Amino acid sequence: MQRFLSLLRSNWITATGAVVTTLAFMAFVTTLVYVALHGGGHGAYLGLFAFLLLPAVFVFGIVLVPIGLLVFRGQLRARMAVLKDKPMRIVPVLGVLTVVNLATVGTAGYEAVHYMDSQQFCGTVCHTVMAPTYGMSLDAPHAKIACVECHIGPGVGAFVQAKLSGLRQVAGVAFDTHARPIPTPVHTLRDASEICENCHWAAKVGADRLVVREHFGDDAAVTPVTNVLLMKIGGTLQDDSGTGIHWHANAGVEVSFVSTGRREQIDWIRYVDAQGKERIFTLDGEDPSKRPAGELRRMDCIDCHNQPGHHQQEPDAAVDMAIAAGRISRQLPSIRKFALAALQKPWPRDGASAAILGDLEQAYAQDGGLDEGKRGLLEAAAKAVADIWLRNVHPDMNIVWGTYPNFIGHRGCMRCHDGQHLDADGESISADCSKCHAVLAEKSSDPTLLRQFGVEPR
Ligand code: HEC
Ligand code: HEC
Ligand code: HEC
Ligand code: HEC
Ligand code: HEC
Repeated sequence: MQRFLSLLRSNWITATGAVVTTLAFMAFVTTLVYVALHGGGHGAYLGLFAFLLLPAVFVFGIVLVPIGLLVFRGQLRARMAVLKDKPMRIVPVLGVLTVVNLATVGTAGYEAVHYMDSQQFCGTVCHTVMAPTYGMSLDAPHAKIACVECHIGPGVGAFVQAKLSGLRQVAGVAFDTHARPIPTPVHTLRDASEICENCHWAAKVGADRLVVREHFGDDAAVTPVTNVLLMKIGGTLQDDSGTGIHWHANAGVEVSFVSTGRREQIDWIRYVDAQGKERIFTLDGEDPSKRPAGELRRMDCIDCHNQPGHHQQEPDAAVDMAIAAGRISRQLPSIRKFALAALQKPWPRDGASAAILGDLEQAYAQDGGLDEGKRGLLEAAAKAVADIWLRNVHPDMNIVWGTYPNFIGHRGCMRCHDGQHLDADGESISADCSKCHAVLAEKSSDPTLLRQFGVEPR
């Protein structure tokens, strides 16, 4: 052992390598123990430190050892000659150390991959870039599904590709050359069949789904109205024909389209049915044989569910949800109108609540004042409005209202089902309300009707 140590001390490069490796190893073990004792939830930087930085330092130290021995091999020979008379047990020592090294690097490597796949790594390490999307993912149905499940495929190829583009993205963050905002749509995403269908089943016939949407007026009474729909989810039937909304996910159906811009406007649509009959829809009067330039995209899950993992809200929908949930009280007159006005203004990220409270106070002052007894409600409302603003608006990334449109409702469907896209016979894509849903109540405030659906009128 002593001789092994004297070997490590034989020159300054090797010695530095040995010290660096030992320190990194001790720090790594200490961090592992710390993480084990304190459970998950440790900060993003601890993970970055423990699973990326320390292992890199560890390997760097190990590499220095043979380099030093190589550079100073003349000196080494002289020293070894002195020690020659006694046998060196260097082989077993080296063997033990190699096992320790492999175990350390292996554990660190495994943990590093695991850690880099976590939502926390994707969402918080590069702050300004991914933090907005991360914040928009926390209340999504897929909140507990790792970003990489949708964004990176399985297998070595996808992993390497992701890490390579990851390096480019790290450079983008380091040199501040990345796009603001991160553009949508994402053209490099895999096919939905490879993403969503790992967990969902395209042919599944979904039960009709009751959807209750509460809305409120901009009037002083913040009058509630409710929409109740029975969504005809549908799917693929026994005879392989499609039905309902997920008719679109039927394997025999091909709907392809060309869109200029961010897929918000659709210019040209081709529908090929199971029998191979083709219909082309264009905006009024345009020649169907002239397909506009641009990507011809076959429609899949993501053309409707385009923000499944994270979504930006729309201001009125977000305020309506907060009022329905009681976070913004209807006892505050005209609060919807004032909240919506506040959401359009720029706020500091620190202290947004206080600033918005000031704005609402001013609105009430101009409106003839607010009952002092409602002070607590006003403070709670200001907090709720601030939360909505902080979640959805990120000036540092140029994310404003509407940067990430969500196509799951009329906004998405009416890109085609608007009655404006006509085929050669002048027929439009069906705009029949009942194909997609039964409208059970529209803007209703009729209590008896709503109670039938278990909705207690406010
Ligand atoms: C359930 C699947 C899913 C999960 C989970 C998911 N995403 Fe996405 N993400 C998508 C899809 C689909 C798009 C592409 C939208 C398009 O092309 O229209 C997208 C787009 C994006 C974009 C581009 C901007 C935009 O909104 O279109 C960013 C940035 C992004 N995702 C980051 C993340 C981060 C960070 C996480 C984890 C916190 C995450 N995603 C989790 C499916 C997912
Ligand atoms: C790793 C598995 C996984 C992947 C990949 C995945 N999902 Fe999901 N998805 C789930 C689970 C689990 C739920 C149920 C969540 C719940 O009910 O809280 C769900 C729920 C949903 C819902 C219902 C949301 C609601 O409001 O009830 C939709 C829509 C959906 N997923 C679409 C998609 C789409 C589109 C993709 C591909 C971009 C996708 N999912 C990818 C696991 C996954
Ligand atoms: C034509 C647009 C469209 C396409 C394409 C589409 N969906 Fe949907 N999907 C919807 C709508 C609309 C709803 C109902 C949303 C609601 O209730 O608000 C829905 C509901 C769902 C739900 C929840 C209901 C249930 O039965 O569990 C899941 C999960 C889902 N879709 C997954 C998928 C997957 C996976 C694909 C691709 C194979 C897909 N969807 C393709 C429009 C679409
Ligand atoms: C890219 C264009 C496009 C978009 C976007 C689109 N559809 Fe369609 N949809 C079609 C075409 C084309 C047909 C077939 C022609 C027809 O039925 O008139 C169709 C048919 C349907 C049908 C009838 C299926 C049947 O049984 O005949 C339903 C239901 C439907 N779509 C629901 C939706 C919903 C809900 C959305 C939005 C979430 C949506 N579609 C978005 C193009 C589109
Ligand atoms: C191509 C399919 C399609 C057609 C056609 C269609 N809708 Fe819808 N509608 C949807 C989808 C998808 C949603 C979103 C459901 C949700 O929010 O979960 C929706 C939502 C609604 C809502 C609730 C909006 C809210 O946020 O409160 C109302 C009301 C409504 N539709 C009425 C109609 C009426 C009336 C017609 C006919 C003139 C019609 N729709 C035609 C697909 C369609």
